Amino acid sequence: MTVKALKGFKDILPGEVRTWQWIEETARNIFHRFGFAEIKVPILEKTELFQRSIGETTDIVEKEMYTFTDRNGASLTMRPEGTASVLRAFIEHSLHLRPSGQRLYTIGPMFRHERPQKGRLRQFHQLSVEALGSERPELDVEVMAMAALLLQELGLSVSLQINSLGCAKCRPAFNRALVDFLSSHGGGLCEDCERRRHTNPLRVLDCKSVHCQEKYSNAPAIVDHLCKDCVDHFRAVEQGLTALDIPYQVNPLMVRGLDYYTRTTFELITDALGAQSAVGAGGRYDGLLGQLGGPDLPGIGFGMGVERLVLLLQQFEAAGASRMIDLFLIALGKDAFAKGFKLVHALRAAGLQVLMDIEGRSLKSQMKQANKANARFALIIGENELQQGEGVIKNMTTGEQSTIQLPENGADEWHVTLLDKLRTNYSH
Ligand code: HAM
Repeated sequence: MTVKALKGFKDILPGEVRTWQWIEETARNIFHRFGFAEIKVPILEKTELFQRSIGETTDIVEKEMYTFTDRNGASLTMRPEGTASVLRAFIEHSLHLRPSGQRLYTIGPMFRHERPQKGRLRQFHQLSVEALGSERPELDVEVMAMAALLLQELGLSVSLQINSLGCAKCRPAFNRALVDFLSSHGGGLCEDCERRRHTNPLRVLDCKSVHCQEKYSNAPAIVDHLCKDCVDHFRAVEQGLTALDIPYQVNPLMVRGLDYYTRTTFELITDALGAQSAVGAGGRYDGLLGQLGGPDLPGIGFGMGVERLVLLLQQFEAAGASRMIDLFLIALGKDAFAKGFKLVHALRAAGLQVLMDIEGRSLKSQMKQANKANARFALIIGENELQQGEGVIKNMTTGEQSTIQLPENGADEWHVTLLDKLRTNYSH
């Protein structure tokens, strides 16, 4: 008998790895543009770290962690998420004292013993982002804007839902209202809810049982119990999103499955993945650093599931919309090839995605290749054009053509001229 991989643990084979790399490259690129730096933290931590941060009475800690006792009798856990480990490292290395220590991201595997299904694994991967040190609503907006931009650059259309979970000041009054509601409407709850309504009432709203959820459809909503500071904060977040033209919906029922959240929470939702509709999710955790023994700094972050992004991209490409490259350079003849070869290198160095045929094929065959590569533009350099120092740009979507002056020697700043030309061509 051969040995197979564990249930819910997946091999990622070479063809698929390219999509993974592309997602990670795009994410790193965007995170860096927003001033985030990568941190790498261990996969294994003391169990206590997750109990104290995610919360003792959450599904993750109660039912889903891979916990074991090591040879020295210590209780260790394979991390079920990234936030706790990043915050532990932040405290341990006093990163608040470093200028670049407050905007961090990490990418890697997480482990939850859930029932595997499409988009839900036991080993899955997250892009995990944390921004620490400010309670300004602008930070919430920046973090959500970054998540939205990442999805946009990946070509995915996902909707943003937001909510506010209040703060230490207004949560107790909401908890009381919820407990009252549960005492008058709560008979026949599942075992977990029955227990949690005494230990951690907010958690019942996150129950996966349809029966319990039906009972909670008229439960008090936390947005109706926010204190003035939380209302103002939430309004400012909404205004900030609107100012940046980021569409969102308020979902007053969203509670999230981790205990550390305060104020803004958000989820990036798709209807293309069946039951596993959250591609990413996150929120504020203003008391958490202090709770873990660190400086009393607020923070906000999110996690995005790489497997879910891959599934979405695969569906998108199966529907015929594959990723485009910027330009395919078609050179005809020896001199044009030498010139084109140099230009392609200079354009790639300037950050454009460019392909070129190096086999000296015919115009027709190179055009076919450009189509197959899904190029936005073709730049054609034939012998005649070369003599006049010109190339022909063809918009591969509209078929429109125009000429562009080629650079004499190097191509140092020429890509700027080319980009200008492509932009004007692209806009009609
Ligand atoms: P989370 O909602 O538990 O939040 O997970 C974030 C994302 O990870 C989900 O939206 C989903 O895309 C992905 N994910 C979670 N579980 C699985 C699974 N079993 N299989 C596949 N993908 C999964 C957190 O983990 C927080 N640490 C996010 C955060 C960071 N909040 C603040 N900072």
